[in-house]
Amino acid sequence: MSIIDKLQWRSAIKKFDPSKKLSAGQLDDLLSAIQLAPASLGLQTYKVIVVEDEETRQKLRAVGYDQPQITDASHLIVFASETNIDSNFGTNYIDLVAKTRGVARESLAGFEQMVLGSINSRTDEQKLASSHKQAYIALGVLLTAAAGLGIDAGPMEGFDAAKFDEILGLKDKGLTTSVIAAVGFRADDDVYSKMIKVRRPKSELFIHV
Ligand SMILES: Cc1cc2nc3c(=O)[nH]c(=O)nc-3n(C[C@H](O)[C@H](O)[C@H](O)COP(=O)(O)O)c2cc1C
Repeated sequence: MSIIDKLQWRSAIKKFDPSKKLSAGQLDDLLSAIQLAPASLGLQTYKVIVVEDEETRQKLRAVGYDQPQITDASHLIVFASETNIDSNFGTNYIDLVAKTRGVARESLAGFEQMVLGSINSRTDEQKLASSHKQAYIALGVLLTAAAGLGIDAGPMEGFDAAKFDEILGLKDKGLTTSVIAAVGFRADDDVYSKMIKVRRPKSELFIHV
């Protein structure tokens, strides 16, 4: 299958088969894809919580419009934005760049200034809005990678983020929920995945200049 065929195959799954679990390798591949998602300036201003625990998922479902994907998929992936992005966060990132690439810390002074300038020129509200956007890019990469791997996923923003934060203890970790995705395998009788995809025609969606 070409990548386009795989994107045709993918669907926002609403009914997962609860008996089908991702192997450790499949889960790790999905997490690798998320890890490899691009981010503005390379700053991954979010964390990703992998929820498998049944009791926790029941609680999350109750504040997630009772969406069955939350409990029935193999795993629930919660993308949570960092709420305390400060100079320290930027400096830690530059440390990581230096360590990973084996370059002198001083050689990154210009880049560090750019990163810290970007962080410090924004209000907390702007930083959070930006972090949510970065989290959604990671979600997009997850959905695409899952399709490529023949794994199903169901993105969701229908949930009470404040309640998610409470149940997962995210506030104390300096995090707040952005968006979530269930991952696993579709049930044979999932209805929506059998329907023809509805998309705006290319003539309306694209403007060629
Ligand atoms: C960010 C985002 C949030 C979504 N939230 C929900 C949701 O809460 N519940 C749901 O059933 N589907 C949700 N969807 C799925 C969309 O309805 C679905 O992607 C769209 O109808 C297109 O269908 P397809 O993905 O199967 O091609 C969401 C999709 C995205 C990208």
